[in-house]
Amino acid sequence: MPNAIIIGTGSYVPKKVLSNHHFERLGSTDTWIQENLGIKERRVVQGEMTSDLATEAARNALEAADLSPLDLDLIVLATATPDRPAPATACTIQENIGATRAVAFDISAVCSGALFAVSTACQYIESGMYRRVLVIGADTFSNITDWERRDAVFFGDGAGAIVLSATEEDRGFLKFELHSDGAGKEGFTVPAGGCENPTSPETIKQKLHCFQMDGRAVFETAIKVVPETILSILQSTGVGVEDIRYLLPHQPSIRILQEIARQVGLPWEKVKTNMDRYANTSGGTIPIVLDETWRSETFNPGDHLLFAAVGAGWTWGAALYKC
Ligand SMILES: CC(C)(COP(=O)(O)OP(=O)(O)OC[C@H]1O[C@@H](n2cnc3c(N)ncnc32)[C@H](O)[C@@H]1OP(=O)(O)O)[C@@H](O)C(=O)NCCC(=O)NCCS
Repeated sequence: MPNAIIIGTGSYVPKKVLSNHHFERLGSTDTWIQENLGIKERRVVQGEMTSDLATEAARNALEAADLSPLDLDLIVLATATPDRPAPATACTIQENIGATRAVAFDISAVCSGALFAVSTACQYIESGMYRRVLVIGADTFSNITDWERRDAVFFGDGAGAIVLSATEEDRGFLKFELHSDGAGKEGFTVPAGGCENPTSPETIKQKLHCFQMDGRAVFETAIKVVPETILSILQSTGVGVEDIRYLLPHQPSIRILQEIARQVGLPWEKVKTNMDRYANTSGGTIPIVLDETWRSETFNPGDHLLFAAVGAGWTWGAALYKC
């Protein structure tokens, strides 16, 4: 059975920077946002679509992997902010980059989306069906944010991309552990725009096309399920926490990440974060933080990377990678 390895990564964020001071008129402060969430600034689109960010990230990743778009068998995009409800935004990206041989589809798991997309891609590679897969996580939450509410501080726009390849070598993704619990669907939701609550003048007036979040529920869920899943994947693979070179997590808030590291027994220096610059880019977080790490660090054969995410649904999971 082939293994799936990372052969290139890329990322892209929009040019416009929005600092915390922007939210002072809503009763928030730079100090509160930095201390509680770890965010100094975030990027927001100005007319660019999710597919535009994803296309740039994809091109960067293909260049790093030294592949042509025609080498790709499959493109999987994780997004909660597609360009359109239909068709899949992955098809637009396929057209943009000229990956005419590739199958393309979207995955919806919000902040866990990139992890779920990578795990899907790996199944295709390990089954032998495809050998070269592009996974992208991209979101433009600025499009579903009510800019008059204080929880506008949490998110930023961005995209990251990962090129996965089949190998016969003994390395790559060792294991995924994924979970969902639909009982948590009100914890983070966009109430309107689907068939449950179709778009109408009333849904627009009530801003039901913007996300609604129960911050306390997100916090309590994240600090319970993520450490549990990390400890479970380590136990089932026999890899010790001391063997982990880095944790590359989704980026919900600095307090959540610190609590996860504390419960798992992972030194904070081993946790990668870019919340200070980009905030929570939802599907983009893990591929962006991976791209930064992949380009700035040298890995030794046998180094272990741990990935973990939690998001709306609820959805959550972890993955273990051997370099
Ligand atoms: C948002 C969060 C910090 C709120 O904390 P909480 O203790 O659960 O809830 P509370 O509403 O009681 O807020 C605590 C304090 O923070 C303040 N606060 C909340 N949001 C704020 C904001 N955006 N700006 C400034 N202050 C804020 C509240 O006014 C309250 O202040 P007080 O203690 O003086 O009354 C916390 O729930 C959290 O970090 N949740 C995770 C959310 C997340 O990561 N979302 C990403 C989705 S994956």
